[in-house]
Amino acid sequence: MLILGIESSCDETAAALVCDSRIVENRILSNIVLSQEKEHRPFGGVVPEVAARAHLKHIDSLIMKAMNDAGVTFNEIDGVAATGGPGLIGGVIVGIMSAKAIASVQKKPFIAVNHLEGHALTARLTSNVDFPYLLLLVSGGHCQLLIVEGIGKYKRLGTTVDDALGEAFDKCAKMMGLGYPGGPIVETTAKAGNGTRFDLPRPMRGRKGCHFSFSGLKTAVRRQIEKLGNDNMSSQDIADLCASFQQAVGDVLIDRCKNALNQFRSIYPAGNTLVVAGGVAANKSIGERLTELKNDENFRLVVPPAEFCTDNAAMIAWAGIEQLKSGNTNSLNFKPRPRWPLDPNAPAAIGAGVKA
Ligand code: KG4
Ligand code: ZN
Repeated sequence: MLILGIESSCDETAAALVCDSRIVENRILSNIVLSQEKEHRPFGGVVPEVAARAHLKHIDSLIMKAMNDAGVTFNEIDGVAATGGPGLIGGVIVGIMSAKAIASVQKKPFIAVNHLEGHALTARLTSNVDFPYLLLLVSGGHCQLLIVEGIGKYKRLGTTVDDALGEAFDKCAKMMGLGYPGGPIVETTAKAGNGTRFDLPRPMRGRKGCHFSFSGLKTAVRRQIEKLGNDNMSSQDIADLCASFQQAVGDVLIDRCKNALNQFRSIYPAGNTLVVAGGVAANKSIGERLTELKNDENFRLVVPPAEFCTDNAAMIAWAGIEQLKSGNTNSLNFKPRPRWPLDPNAPAAIGAGVKA
């Protein structure tokens, strides 16, 4: 099975061709990602209107490049999958309309993929991972712990009651004047820093359950910046603050994942795999902290290669393959969905501005 995947839900325009080879290394035939970093950098964050226009400008040529790189024609594909949400609606419309147009002209199945399911299933593209598994999904818009029971079957154990983790990285980077996107810059800057210098809070640590909260940590970083004097911070101060922030985040993740692992094992006693996905999963320091937990708790930890943690179309094509194999396709009447929770039955978490 060979699928064209299209991703355009945030600030990356991407197209990929993926097949369902049994050999992991042979699955990705092409994978093109065009980052809009330059367009958004002057604004210090993603501007939805700018993003939608940039997707529109590049998507056709990107799809053709993905087809050419893979050396396939539209005739040979078995379907077209595109992110149908959640995300910035202008961009999602661009990807969905392109996919519908190709599917309609070529008379191929069309699959609208939940972007979060794309992240959730990436580990099954880049490694062999069986259901059920525990998933830590940490991206720019989401921070959740879920049990992945099967295609389209998710049980949410916890979510953030305020900021997503990637958002916290981005906001802290912005406050320190490090630019956008913040996550990778904070990670690099932290390498030269002392993670024990600043005593930052560990929100939710020690509490029951699996919810997250990062706004208090973000406020504590802002207070430190004010104490040091916005314009007087040395590069060592900034490195130490980045490292201390990352240390606090690592402590919180370990604590939350430990609770989630217990809940997972109480439902699935043989459950033994933790998968990390989403842009923040590209962070090596977080990977090292979760490896500590893995060694203590004795489970399998799967972190996909960094380029497949951040937004890409290979994960959308792969989720399309999994959906198509389960017999799921969408009609050309599908409407893009700005919100699309993986577990629609999850009770609302108590707190302001909850991300579902
Ligand atoms: O999954 P993703 O590419 O897009 C969304 O679906 O949101 O995640 C983007 C987020 C951004 O907040 C970015 O700063 C963060 O992932 N990120 C990182 C790293 N690379 C990307 N955060 C921490 N460390 C990184 N190395
Ligand atoms: Zn994403």
